[in-house]
Amino acid sequence: MKTLVLAGGKGTRLWPLSRELLPKQFIKLFDDRSLFQSTIERALLFSKPKEIFIVTNREYRFRVFDELDELGIRVPEENVLLEPVGKNTLPAIYWGLKVIRENFGRSVVAVLPSDHRIEVNESYMEAFKRAKKLAEEYLVTFGIKPTKPHTGYGYIRPGEKLEGGYLVAEFKEKPDYETAKRYVENGYYWNSGMFMFSTEIFMEEARKHAPELVRAFEEAKTIEEAYELAPETSVDYGILEKTDKAAVVPLNTYWNDLGSFDAIYEAMEKDKNGNAVRVKGFKAKYINVDSRNNLIMTERLTATIGVEDLVIIDTGDALLVAKKGETQKVKEVFKRLKEDG
Ligand code: GDD
Ligand code: MG
Repeated sequence: MKTLVLAGGKGTRLWPLSRELLPKQFIKLFDDRSLFQSTIERALLFSKPKEIFIVTNREYRFRVFDELDELGIRVPEENVLLEPVGKNTLPAIYWGLKVIRENFGRSVVAVLPSDHRIEVNESYMEAFKRAKKLAEEYLVTFGIKPTKPHTGYGYIRPGEKLEGGYLVAEFKEKPDYETAKRYVENGYYWNSGMFMFSTEIFMEEARKHAPELVRAFEEAKTIEEAYELAPETSVDYGILEKTDKAAVVPLNTYWNDLGSFDAIYEAMEKDKNGNAVRVKGFKAKYINVDSRNNLIMTERLTATIGVEDLVIIDTGDALLVAKKGETQKVKEVFKRLKEDG
C-alpha cells in the first residue's frame, strides 16, 4: 500500500507554540516525536519507505528531511513533493496521487494528515485492512464516534451497509453548531481526516467534481503554474461533499486532532493535581504551589500559585495566558498579530 502524508498546514490555533516556520505537525508535543514523525511511523505499518510520499510546503523541506533522518528513515528525495504555495488539501492530494500513479500505476493510497494524535490499536489495523478492500470501489473515509458538537470537523451519515463499512449517505464539512448538535444526536460520525483512495477512482471523481483543478494540473507546464491556476479548496468541500462514491469505515480508537490548547490538555498526561506540564530548555523548570488543572508549557523558570484551569504557554519570546475552555479564540490573537504587522 502507498501512503501520502499531508504536512503542509500552517496551524494558527496553537500560537505561540506554532509559528509560520514551525507549524503544529513539527512540534514535539508528546515524548520525543513530532506529530509528523509519529505519522511516518504509522505509515510504515503498511508501506515501505519507498512507498511513502509527503506533500509539504517548500519552506518545510529541511525540516522534513531532518525529521526523517532523526527517525533513521530513508524516503526517496523525489517522494517529497514541495508545494510553492499552500492551497489546502485538495491540490496537495491530487498532486500526490498523480505522482504515485505515474510511478506505480493504479494504486491504493492511504492519505494521512500529520496533525493528529491517534492510537494504533486492533480497530485501527482492522479498519485499514477493510478500507483497502473498499477503496477498490469507493473513496474511503474513517469515521470516529463524536463526543460533542464540534464545528471544526466533517460529519458523515452512514447509509447502506457494505462489506467492511457503510456507504456515505451524506458528508457535511464544518457545519454550524446547531447542525452539528443534530448530527451528533442522529448517529453521524466525525470525519477523521484520514482517507483511503484508489488513484483511479479519485481521478474520476476529481474530473467530475473539480474539473478546474484537473485542468490546472493538465495544462500547466510547471508545478508553479499548476499551483497558480489551482483553486484553493479542501478535499472535504471539493470532493467528499459532492461525490456519491464515498464509504465510511468506523474507527474505534483514541483520536484527538489537537486543534486547540484545550484538546492538547486533554491528550497530555496529568500529574496528581491535574496539571499537564511540558518544560523545555536548559534552565527551564516549573514550580507549582497549590495550582490545579492547568496546562503549563514553558521554556523558562516558571511558578504558579493557587491558580486553576489556566493555559500558560511561554516560548521565551511570547507568552499566552488563557482560560481553559476559551482557547479556540487563539486564532483571534493570530489575526490581530497579522493586522498589526
Ligand atoms: N501539503 C499540504 N498543503 N498540506 C496541507 C495543506 C496544504 O495546503 N493544508 C492543510 N494541510 C495538511 C495539514 O497539515 C493537516 O495535516 C491536514 O492537511 C488536514 O488539514 P487541516 O487544515 O488540519 O484540516 P481540518 O482539521 O480543518 O479539517 C480536516 O480534518 C478534520 C479532522 O481533524 C477535514 O478533513 C475534516 O473533515 C476533519 O474532520
Ligand atoms: Mg486539522
